[in-house]
Amino acid sequence: MRPRPVVAIDGPSGAGKSTVARALARALGFQFVDTGALYRTVALLADENGVEWSIGPRLAKLVDGHEFAFDSDGALYLDGRPVGEAVRSPRMSMGASEVARHAEVREALLVIQRVIGKEGGVVLEGRDIGTVVFPDAEIKFFLDASVSERASRRFEELLAKGRDVTLDQITREQEERDRSDRERELSPLRKADEAIEIPCDDMTAQQVVEHMLAIVKTQFSFD
Ligand code: DC
Repeated sequence: MRPRPVVAIDGPSGAGKSTVARALARALGFQFVDTGALYRTVALLADENGVEWSIGPRLAKLVDGHEFAFDSDGALYLDGRPVGEAVRSPRMSMGASEVARHAEVREALLVIQRVIGKEGGVVLEGRDIGTVVFPDAEIKFFLDASVSERASRRFEELLAKGRDVTLDQITREQEERDRSDRERELSPLRKADEAIEIPCDDMTAQQVVEHMLAIVKTQFSFD
């Protein structure tokens, strides 16, 4: 038994997982781990090194040749430098989904995720945390929302960052990523049987966090 739990949060892209996972981790005093940032950074590394997103073994070699680390607030550092906004572009969203199809990449990133989480006291968010990365997680959530709600949230986010995008374009990209994440052969996006499902179309991020926090606190007591 771990003294403090592993909290797994899975769900489709744009459901607000990062926002609520970060806030939940802060409220619990846990480490936050945005596992999507790892896949995004692999796509970026591939671009920088002229490696195609379709060649799994070469991508995995890239992962092995670099150091990935999260700070206490969940920001990802590659070889000691923060990856920041460079991995948040629509191109890197597509790239992450592409590189995530390869067994070699998933295997290399699995090791990193398990090392970070094995002692507990972590909130990890992604697609396969409750099913593959930590099937023994003490608590599992599955955050879901409709495509239209997720696309319009992503659209607002990108607009606020000054990106030149249309809602139509974001909706199409969202549908394409959903298809790719749910239908891929390896570790597809799937709700773990025992995961607590939270449909969050009509909930604010704060309401979702409070709901999760109440569940964690009724099920566990820890320092
Ligand atoms: O959560 P995100 O949008 O940053 O994730 C980017 C992509 O990374 C997503 O489309 C699929 C992949 N991914 C994955 O396959 N498994 C995870 N645990 C997290 C992300």
